[in-house]
Amino acid sequence: MGIGHREGMTLAAVSAPAPAPAARLASRLELALATGSGALDDLMDAEPVDARDGALALAAIHDLSVAPIDVVRETVAHQHHPAVVALKGRLESALMDRVAALVSDPVALGGASAVESIRAIAARDLVPSLYQWVAASAGWAGLRSFLAMEGGPDGGFDDLVALGQIGLTGEPKLEMARNYWDEMGRGSLPAIHTELQQRMAAAVGLGSTPRALLPLEALNRSLLCTVFATNRQLQPELIGALGLIELQAGPRCRKVVQGLRRLQADEDALAFYQEHADADPRHGKAWLDHVVSPLSSDPWWVAGMVRGAMYRSAVNAAFFALVTDRVDEGFARRRQGGAATLHLLSGPKR
Ligand SMILES: [Fe+2]
Ligand SMILES: [Fe+2]
Repeated sequence: MGIGHREGMTLAAVSAPAPAPAARLASRLELALATGSGALDDLMDAEPVDARDGALALAAIHDLSVAPIDVVRETVAHQHHPAVVALKGRLESALMDRVAALVSDPVALGGASAVESIRAIAARDLVPSLYQWVAASAGWAGLRSFLAMEGGPDGGFDDLVALGQIGLTGEPKLEMARNYWDEMGRGSLPAIHTELQQRMAAAVGLGSTPRALLPLEALNRSLLCTVFATNRQLQPELIGALGLIELQAGPRCRKVVQGLRRLQADEDALAFYQEHADADPRHGKAWLDHVVSPLSSDPWWVAGMVRGAMYRSAVNAAFFALVTDRVDEGFARRRQGGAATLHLLSGPKR
């Protein structure tokens, strides 16, 4: 992207999405989950109308496993309904195909260890150029819009760590417990990362972004970790992906801190990103040394952990490429005298 742009654009008003046609799987599933078992039977062989529809339907299915119980309430009774299980499998398989197609530069393990491979993947795109825009020139509207989509390093991270450590023993178990304890603010309620995140969101004025407004690239990015977390055979992939998040979060959060300081954000806005800028380089190193390394004696674990990091890296790259394009398009329109509006959250163009 064009580094050094000064942003004077305003953010596009986030308009409500067009009413979903009844034929869309996500809409049919939402209705069936609310209606009950008989309505779900009709979805046994249902297919999404497009990738975005599939991603939104899959997100609703993953909610049954990982969303706060008060969000799903009675519908969670259908978590293991045969039609939901069948749909989950098909939609996840389509998602994994989409993600595999994004991996343009697969890491050949060769003689490299999992630690070396994951470290190399993390270094490849450590700080995407978009963060330069965040640090140096984004205005409040653009930054708000970006942070709402990017989600910081904590999109359910504590729960993902908890799900990732099931059945482990020894050093990996202990390191993931240390990581989880840091997520819990080391026992201090106001320092719990999700609390810091909520205070940051309130201070920055993020609001909540309706999922239906997110571009497919953002949906794929968050769904990948919940595919890993809700399929036990993908536990190594989850551990590899979480390690990559830790390894990359520190320098990215530093850029967000720079942007927030430049915009004279208050301390509540800064604390969440400052905490991750400080802690995540340590978390990343500890994850490699004490989780990935001890699990690396088994080739099944090695292949899975590296694949998880590689897939996370691929969905990140697609997401950052899309946002960078939209930022650049906004500047191009402004240079041509068009509306000075930055369309980051306006949904897919496809
Ligand atoms: Fe965190
Ligand atoms: Fe961390």
